[in-house]
Amino acid sequence: MIGARPHVLASCAVSLDGFLDDASPQRRVLSGPADLDRVDEERAGVDAILVGAGTVRADDSRLLVRAPERRAARVARGLPPSPLRVVLTTGAIDPSARVLGGDAETIALAGTPGEVVDALGARGVVRLMVEGGAAVLREFLTAGLVDELQLVLAPQLVGDGPRFTGGGRPPHLVETCTLGGDVLLRYRFGEADDRHLAEACLLAEHCPPSATAFSVGCVVVAEDGTVLGAGWSRRDHPLDHAEEGVLRALGHDPRLRRATLYSSLEPCGERASRPDPCAALIARAGIPRVVHAWSEPPDFVTAPSGSAQLEAVGVEVVQLSRWEPLARRCATRL
Ligand SMILES: NC(=O)c1ccc[n+]([C@@H]2O[C@H](COP(=O)([O-])OP(=O)(O)OC[C@H]3O[C@@H](n4cnc5c(N)ncnc54)[C@H](OP(=O)(O)O)[C@@H]3O)[C@@H](O)[C@H]2O)c1
Ligand SMILES: [Zn+2]
Repeated sequence: MIGARPHVLASCAVSLDGFLDDASPQRRVLSGPADLDRVDEERAGVDAILVGAGTVRADDSRLLVRAPERRAARVARGLPPSPLRVVLTTGAIDPSARVLGGDAETIALAGTPGEVVDALGARGVVRLMVEGGAAVLREFLTAGLVDELQLVLAPQLVGDGPRFTGGGRPPHLVETCTLGGDVLLRYRFGEADDRHLAEACLLAEHCPPSATAFSVGCVVVAEDGTVLGAGWSRRDHPLDHAEEGVLRALGHDPRLRRATLYSSLEPCGERASRPDPCAALIARAGIPRVVHAWSEPPDFVTAPSGSAQLEAVGVEVVQLSRWEPLARRCATRL
């Protein structure tokens, strides 16, 4: 599946009055240490980080993963310690820019946002983080290419500088949390099935590693869009499949009878370690619709597929294969 369009995470910090920086030549750091550490964690999870040449000129950041344990974890997975750095420019990167130093590759690209993400997909980039600045964020949002936006609101009033602006598809709030004095607002773009399935794929990254079972993420969403539950394989018990853990926590919630279950992997149709495969658990819960990204590879099962079993009892099963590269990428984060 190499060559598919990457999952695009746009990330930025804004002041209370909507600025990405102040008007001075020095970069104004907006968010606090807890957020900067969170951004470092996000960087460690992606294949490439993209910024515009304006940000390179203004900030001269190295754009590397900082924490030694995150760098070591990437190396243990067979990845370079930091993701590929991509600078958008119609010219050339200043040879003295710090983004050309350090132990990560840097490339310059030009073109429309669509051409740029396709070129990165062709290089095997599955997860792309767009870190700014103002022009690049606006271009990617307006082109409808952003899947997730992480916007951090920092308690500063700046008065003047580059503004955060966008356009295109409407954002849907997924999560809010506070980080010290900052507030993280997490949004997703696109159709409901795509938004929830992408979330399920990313949850698979939390799975404790296993040599004999897949790493899967699962989200269950009510008819009105309320997220009823979410989880991942082996979260509560070493043998748990993602769907199993989420359904157990939901019990007999009546909203399940009109809900959709999103799973990064097709629900299993046979279990060696438990009496009921996930297909049977889903059918018993009365869930009428399942959306998944990736058909179960035949490594660990021989029986009829979970989809066939679900369809046999009237459950609608939809596979959105465009999310398969993300499901696979997140399943191999050991
Ligand atoms: N708060 C935050 O989270 C955050 C994050 C990042 C940046 N910032 C701030 O944002 C400001 C920089 O924003 P900005 O709008 O001036 O610059 P920018 O968006 O970083 O970069 C704009 C430049 O990128 C190149 N570019 C953009 N789209 C392109 C395309 N499709 N193809 C080829 N080249 C393309 C062009 O470079 P050329 O002119 O070289 O062709 C353009 O001038 C700085 O003040 C920085 O501190 C804030
Ligand atoms: Zn299962």
